[in-house]
Amino acid sequence: MSAPVPEPVAPVPEPVEGRWITFEGGDGAGKTTQATLLEQWLRAQGRTVVRTREPGGTAVGALIRDIVLHHPGDIAPRAEALLYAADRAHHVATLVRPAIARGEIVVQDRYLDSSVAYQGAGRVLDAAEVRDLSLWAAEGALPDLTVLLDLDPASARVRLDADDKPFDRLEAEQSEFHARVRQGFLELAAAEPDRFLVLDATRPADELAAAVRERVAATDGSAGRVGRTP
Ligand code: TYD
Repeated sequence: MSAPVPEPVAPVPEPVEGRWITFEGGDGAGKTTQATLLEQWLRAQGRTVVRTREPGGTAVGALIRDIVLHHPGDIAPRAEALLYAADRAHHVATLVRPAIARGEIVVQDRYLDSSVAYQGAGRVLDAAEVRDLSLWAAEGALPDLTVLLDLDPASARVRLDADDKPFDRLEAEQSEFHARVRQGFLELAAAEPDRFLVLDATRPADELAAAVRERVAATDGSAGRVGRTP
């Protein structure tokens, strides 16, 4: 009796690696434009992209966003830091991690670096404590790549004024505050050069987009920092 002919085995598809890319910078730096251009490029490559933001990337987060950006009055600095951290905890647990686990690419406006730069810039809270709070909230999750669009506060103000939208609570802060925010971002980038790509946000949008694409393509296959404690 001849041996049974084995069934042809279907090739196992290569697992697609999920990735997480965040955009940071002061208000008016052009994060949203760059995130949109990257999203379009990734989709054209056939990738599934989850476009999201903090604060406000989930239904719970939208409620928190309304408090932190539109509450008409002061919010105690620790309460504000906890609100951003609460948004982050829910966002990472319910949206970011599941998307990455499915092999999708998360393209996100702002993450914990914004908390360190903004909440730390008020001089009331210690930047390391703010970062630790966020890391606790997100169980240590860090993006594979963080694009920092660096812009001096004076140019940012010109862009925001041209936008003709009412300022939110943070946009309305004084220029020294925004200068400290910028400094905070630059220090974070210097401390983690592997994670950050720092770009001069005054460059034309298409040049910036090309630089982002180049870095994304160069780091393809090096994903997997999510959940790793720094
Ligand atoms: P953003 O969504 O960029 O505002 P807009 O859509 O109006 O351009 O950011 C909202 C504001 O929240 C911004 O001023 C920075 C601030 N922010 C913090 O202070 N801490 C944080 O952790 C985050 C994520 C944002």
